[in-house]
Amino acid sequence: MHNDQCAAHLRWHLEDIDFSSTDTARMRVRDDIFLLVCSASFVESGAETYAHNLVDYFTGDTEVGEWLSERWKVEELQHGRALKTYVQHVWPEFDWDSAYADFFAEYAKLCTCDELEPTRAQELVARCIVEMGTTTYYQTLNAVLDEPVLRDITWRIRADEVQHYKHFYSYFLKYQQQENLRRPHVIATLWRRAAELRKGDADIALRHAAAWRFRGCRQAPAYAAIQKQVYELMGAQYPMDMVVRMALKPLQLNARLQRWAERPIAAVARRVLLR
Ligand SMILES: [Fe+2]
Ligand SMILES: [Fe+2]
Repeated sequence: MHNDQCAAHLRWHLEDIDFSSTDTARMRVRDDIFLLVCSASFVESGAETYAHNLVDYFTGDTEVGEWLSERWKVEELQHGRALKTYVQHVWPEFDWDSAYADFFAEYAKLCTCDELEPTRAQELVARCIVEMGTTTYYQTLNAVLDEPVLRDITWRIRADEVQHYKHFYSYFLKYQQQENLRRPHVIATLWRRAAELRKGDADIALRHAAAWRFRGCRQAPAYAAIQKQVYELMGAQYPMDMVVRMALKPLQLNARLQRWAERPIAAVARRVLLR
């Protein structure tokens, strides 16, 4: 399907966002919000490279392949474009393209086929964790914001990420049966990917966004201080119950076991994600 035809099937379009009504003066002074939005725009815009590897990995499965290239990739790229447009609207002096090029040079090295899980079912567990990460990220960002245009964008993106999670989860169920994937393998993938959430692409993106934002500033804040500030802002609102529910879902525990597991898992997740 051609890209224009794909765009017609999206739940929303960039043109639906009224960037002109942004409260620019209020947002310009918020370095923390800049970094959260800009770093997210980098990761979303990098979806093209990752999508290519993923589509290759599912060669022969037309249903997954078509959904990945006609919906998932197109939606992730639109997330990147919406966030980029917002950054450029509020901080027009920021050289997004150069900053993104720097980010991409480092990020592309991570996006190799070696990064994929050993089986399709396990890769789909990994994708569920990534979509859990994005869903909760945009939900939190939405909760800490008081600027209506950015709230609108983050809520639309959040809704897409929930749908991505649901799709990957239903494909996981299909492959889990085919591969007869046992729970210890699911746990191993969940664990590995959850631990990586903090260290991976989000951190690279944040580092490059900060480096370009404070370029040439005599009183540029230390990166560790910036990182602490944004994690504290997000940490206060992070929906840990949702993180845990979405992370545990691929284990398909019965209700009693799930209730029993939620508290200790939430404590671990808090340490891993909000350290
Ligand atoms: Fe996204
Ligand atoms: Fe997504």
